[in-house]
Amino acid sequence: MDARNGDSATTPRRRPSRLGKLPGRQDWSSWPHYQAAASGFRGYWYPVGYSSRFGSKPKQITLLGRKIVLIRDGGRVYALKDRCPHRGVPLSEGNQQFPGTISCPYHGWTFDLESGELKAAITDGPHSPICGKVVQPTYDVAERLGMVWVFVGDGEQAPPIDEQLPEELVGNAAVVGSRIQPREGNWRFACENGYDEGHAKYLHRTSLWRLFKPMPVWNETRIIQRGRWIYRVQEKQYWDADFPGLGRWSSQAWYKMKPPSKVGNIGNTSTHREVNPVIAAQEFPGFASVSMPGVLRIVYPTFIHYEFYVPVDNDNHLYVGVMASFDRGIRTIPFYLKYLGFVRWLFHGQFSAQDKWMVEVTDAPPEKLYRPDDSLLKWRKLAEDTCEERAERLRGEGIEPAAAPTEN
Ligand code: FES
Ligand SMILES: [Fe+2]
Repeated sequence: MDARNGDSATTPRRRPSRLGKLPGRQDWSSWPHYQAAASGFRGYWYPVGYSSRFGSKPKQITLLGRKIVLIRDGGRVYALKDRCPHRGVPLSEGNQQFPGTISCPYHGWTFDLESGELKAAITDGPHSPICGKVVQPTYDVAERLGMVWVFVGDGEQAPPIDEQLPEELVGNAAVVGSRIQPREGNWRFACENGYDEGHAKYLHRTSLWRLFKPMPVWNETRIIQRGRWIYRVQEKQYWDADFPGLGRWSSQAWYKMKPPSKVGNIGNTSTHREVNPVIAAQEFPGFASVSMPGVLRIVYPTFIHYEFYVPVDNDNHLYVGVMASFDRGIRTIPFYLKYLGFVRWLFHGQFSAQDKWMVEVTDAPPEKLYRPDDSLLKWRKLAEDTCEERAERLRGEGIEPAAAPTEN
């Protein structure tokens, strides 16, 4: 089931890039791959919208700065570069004249959906000599979690999408509720906001989602890597604190629940609630984890929340929030009711809107990091290391990865 709202990737609003500051000011040059990835990392699958939005009418999306046309034919979704090589008209303005193809609206150049080959130039007759001499770039497409995913790479074979999805979503049946929303701001600000150790306790203390739940003032946290994920491991939580010369500060209130007596790494608070067996079996070392190419996983005792930050272009991203329950049969009903009844509005809505607000107004670099930002440093390092490994692997296959994503 998908609870639907919002849109798929849409044509972005333009505004001047806030990246690339004056020379001599602090930048992200310690992480060159990360710094260059303003419009996203290539070599990954990205969710671009709900499956139901893609039918036989061609639809344009923007992903990693490139315009792509998506069309469904025979039940399967195909993706091609959305610029006719003849005179540069978007193929998404055209339609289908023959099964398995898409025709440009201008002069009727007709491309095979699977291979991208020019099969016919209708206005030059059935034996047009241009046929067979033009191939339109295509993209691999998959459908998972009720969404269409597109792979953007450097010409390498796309890895199976299941190798990139969170592991627990591949091997287990899950019911999901999701929300897709085009948002302003660079995708890296969104990802860093998601994984940032510091902000939730302060920014979200006023959210309705946390109305009755206490938030610590600060935590002692360690970041550890397991496989392709890095985890925030809470060592100690402080529920109130004395700030010298200023006074005591706490976000506790008489109407909030009591803080848990011990530190928990599932659900960020206590572990005394019954943990779903699928979630327990993962033995997650921490409540919050992140992996490439910008996937956040927040583990609660009875469900997992994911955020995929999909790069649209330098200044826009697609927020894809997914809540998954691993309960089976009749036990899925409370999940649906809970999700549709309030989680969708309080968590994917109002709580997440606070993040949206911060991502829109973040302006970095330059930046001056503080102790909790170890989480950001470890994420950037993970991105950098993973990019290096990929570049080496591609070179081994005789492919030179582009330094930064470019329009193809
Ligand atoms: S511009 Fe596409 S067929 Fe002429
Ligand atoms: Fe947040």
